[in-house]
Amino acid sequence: MKNEQNNIAGPIGVFDSGYGGLTILEAFRKELPQYNYIYLGDNARAPYGSRSFDVVYEFTRQAVMKLFELGCRLIILGCNTASAKALRTIQQHDLPQMDNSLRRVLGIIHPTVEAIGDITHTNHVGILATEGTIKSNSYALEINKLHPNIAVTGVSCPLWVPIIENNEADGEGADYFVKKRIDTIMSLDSQIDTLILGCTHYPLLLPKIKKYTPKGVQVVAQGQYVAKSLANYLQRHPDMEQLCIKQGVTQYYTTENAERFKESAKIFLHEDISVQHIDLE
Ligand code: DGL
Repeated sequence: MKNEQNNIAGPIGVFDSGYGGLTILEAFRKELPQYNYIYLGDNARAPYGSRSFDVVYEFTRQAVMKLFELGCRLIILGCNTASAKALRTIQQHDLPQMDNSLRRVLGIIHPTVEAIGDITHTNHVGILATEGTIKSNSYALEINKLHPNIAVTGVSCPLWVPIIENNEADGEGADYFVKKRIDTIMSLDSQIDTLILGCTHYPLLLPKIKKYTPKGVQVVAQGQYVAKSLANYLQRHPDMEQLCIKQGVTQYYTTENAERFKESAKIFLHEDISVQHIDLE
């Protein structure tokens, strides 16, 4: 029998190490504007991309617990690194230990992989992502489960997130690092016709990424696919859908300075937002 606690609805939580998940949140708000969202960026400890499995898991677990405390019932890890390194342990170890009310945590790698089969024509795909995501081999494993005929080449871009987190995405210095990684991945497999941005920060570098990508190769940001997958999930899970508040309101939290987050988030969101500082432990 359900108790009262089990029936309390909440916002949908979106978590990222920093600003990158805002590109996922934006896609959610476009596709599913009726829901309330809480965005949590662990900017004080970003980037996660080169951190060990244990550290990414522990930081992500803390963020998930905080979002549950703030009332979320459904949380999306809007971060590939966290999806690659922490999602499975949270789903299989942490969630079963919590009380029996309905709570779910979902990642963003699987929804992206599901879409890939329809995007590539040469069946040669490149993944640009953080060191953690590439080393985990999550994209290649997931792609090969669904599409065994697709050849996957992954290249990590360790400096791209720090460039973005430090507001240098439009700066001249970024060109060097973007071109270098695009050249590397294309030299590893010249038949690639699709480059997947497997890090939620990377769409912020899109103009430069497109500038250095050979003609005929498409660059794919994952937001729209993740948003469609969430819409589909909510349709298939009416019990969870009923636990998502629908007033169209979004709240923002950061582990860094709230004013700093607000200023930088403008670049991503093109709107003024109010932000609260929060500590994770
Ligand atoms: N935006 C994140 C991702 O999608 C993490 C970037 C980082 O913190 O290194 O992987």
